[in-house]
Amino acid sequence: MAPSRPRPLSRRGSIDPDYLVPMDKTVAATGAGDNFNVIFIGAGNIMFGSDEGPWNHSFRLEHKLGPRLKVVALIDPAVERARAVLQKKRASFVVSAYQDTRIFKSLDEYVKNVDVDEEDIQAIVIGCPPMFRGSTKPGRNLELQIIETFPGTPLFVEKPVATGPQEEVAEAFRVAKAIDEAGTICSVGYMLRYLKAVQMMKQILDENNLTVMSTVARYAAAYSAIAKPDWWDKSKSYGPVIEQATHFCALVNPYVSPVLYVRSPGDDYEHVHRFENDDPFFSEVSNLIDVIEDGPESAEILSSYEDACKTYAFTWAIREASEKSKSKK
Ligand SMILES: NC(=O)c1ccc[n+]([C@@H]2O[C@H](COP(=O)([O-])OP(=O)(O)OC[C@H]3O[C@@H](n4cnc5c(N)ncnc54)[C@H](O)[C@@H]3O)[C@@H](O)[C@H]2O)c1
Repeated sequence: MAPSRPRPLSRRGSIDPDYLVPMDKTVAATGAGDNFNVIFIGAGNIMFGSDEGPWNHSFRLEHKLGPRLKVVALIDPAVERARAVLQKKRASFVVSAYQDTRIFKSLDEYVKNVDVDEEDIQAIVIGCPPMFRGSTKPGRNLELQIIETFPGTPLFVEKPVATGPQEEVAEAFRVAKAIDEAGTICSVGYMLRYLKAVQMMKQILDENNLTVMSTVARYAAAYSAIAKPDWWDKSKSYGPVIEQATHFCALVNPYVSPVLYVRSPGDDYEHVHRFENDDPFFSEVSNLIDVIEDGPESAEILSSYEDACKTYAFTWAIREASEKSKSKK
């Protein structure tokens, strides 16, 4: 481990891994029984799950909020896909969350057809592809549209915050500033930060006042059913560093397995910590709902929008450096 140094001011404190309660041990947020009204933007796999991987925000929200969850609108230009996912939900035991969900092709269509002042929206979950957001430019300024239409409404935004040319990274920071100035609670979906193993790593670093001197990480997509060729294609999602490695870049220490091996100076033994059945997708949703309902002291959002912009800029810098070094050969 590196020698002890003054702690960098930018490092966020760890949260106690024991605080992260597994989904099957959680008690649904009661909120005095009030409905928790949500708008979903995107009816794809991140929102409704698939055999691609464990992501599925609707499922975690259903568990966190129980019968209080009411998805008031589902916005997706692929209307048939939206209908199909709703049909499945309505045929299941979570029907009460979806029976009145209205489908719209776009936020503009929603605004045209709904009296927004009459709506009482507690959160908006953005799970559409990043090329449609993270900018101030019309057509890609979803967050700004939301802040204007629903001032004060908390947001959950999927990673990466944007995909666009490198010269436009500053655009994402402009969006971050607008979110900040509007005082909007906002969490970005870097769920690996919520892993207990990652929080324990941070705890060890904090308690020993350590600075990370280097990080070694390797990534191989281990999902057997993943069907996202775009994520590996620079012409579509700007490439695997920006779409995928972004998760690792969002971590100071990308230790993402449920087993953490710790070896300290002066100790000949390796200490093994196992975190079985840890579900960071649930923890990120759960923490956001707790902050919305019970205030900033009740839980922690581990990736703000501005922080996610730094990750985005970092991934662009890595892509640029790798392209430069390749072109020299
Ligand atoms: N955190 C994770 O592990 C994780 C996993 C999967 C996906 N993601 C992220 O979630 C986002 C979506 O991925 P996905 O797998 O759900 O993709 P997907 O292709 O399965 O679904 C995207 C949906 O968004 C809809 N859409 C397109 N443009 C839209 C717009 N302007 N407004 C509303 N909806 C629009 C599409 O019609 C589609 O139904 C991406 O940013 C991706 O990186 C994160």
